[in-house]
Amino acid sequence: MKVFNTVKELRDELEPLRQAGKIIGLVPTMGALHEGHLSLVRRAKQECDIVVVSDFVNPIQFNNQHDLETYPRTLDEDVAKLQSVDCDYVLAPSVEEMYPTPVTDKYSFGIIEEVMEGPRRPGHFSGVAVVVRRLFDIVEPQKAYFGEKDFQQIAIIKNLVKQINYDIEIVPCPIVRADDGLALSSRNKRLSPENRAKAPKIHATLSEATQKAATMSVAEVKQWVMDVFTEDPAFDPEYFEIVEDVTLQPVTDWNDADGIVGCIAVWMDDVRLIDIIRFK
Ligand code: PAJ
Repeated sequence: MKVFNTVKELRDELEPLRQAGKIIGLVPTMGALHEGHLSLVRRAKQECDIVVVSDFVNPIQFNNQHDLETYPRTLDEDVAKLQSVDCDYVLAPSVEEMYPTPVTDKYSFGIIEEVMEGPRRPGHFSGVAVVVRRLFDIVEPQKAYFGEKDFQQIAIIKNLVKQINYDIEIVPCPIVRADDGLALSSRNKRLSPENRAKAPKIHATLSEATQKAATMSVAEVKQWVMDVFTEDPAFDPEYFEIVEDVTLQPVTDWNDADGIVGCIAVWMDDVRLIDIIRFK
């Protein structure tokens, strides 16, 4: 495995491989890697000849300065983990390397970004799109791997690929959870021990909500989930939406769509956690 800090070194390395017809897979990350990220790399290794992982905390997708400053940075450990799953190349650029000139590009995603994370994190998805497009241009992958934990992000990236008309397959990958059900996240490290112990309630509640769906309406299930977290002082729920899985638009009836997911964002002190559950 080779680790590059510059775009040119990586491109020079990939060029002959591309010429030789190798299938290149890209796994974009912001580092602080855990089993969730590694599952994407393992999947990419199964389906591609060469796997490139980017490890870059992208400042322009943070709408909260505190979140950016406290985001864990663990490059040495990341490199060791990536080595253990047989990753081929790591791109770990500086901010100046990624953005040599001020970023002026902006992307819009219509109704997909008008819900859930979109209005609550202004500029976030445009910042994600800018960095992912740059990574696409640098790596020129045939396939790119993303986790379903960031469900809306996948919809945004699929839309981006259509907008820019690139021939890249977006591969959604299942959420990896801790044994107690908490979705793995780099931000979990910032939870106090007490909050970490209580955080599995998020997945447990969403799982219970799928049972409730047999007898409750969409509005009732939404209210029930919000009440669970509002009544528990450890949690401060930001939203829980039940949406169609492609357009991400809220449904009002379980028969409104073939694929329906529930998406939640909750705060535990100053840590914001997200998770999703599939209803059908
Ligand atoms: P990051 O939060 O580091 O996540 C990188 C990838 O890992 C994303 O596709 C995310 O959905 C996936 N992932 C995170 N936790 C996971 C889990 N528990 N199970 C499965 N997959 C998981 O998402 C980003 O970075 C950034 O927005 C990025 C796309 C890299 C652009 O900067």
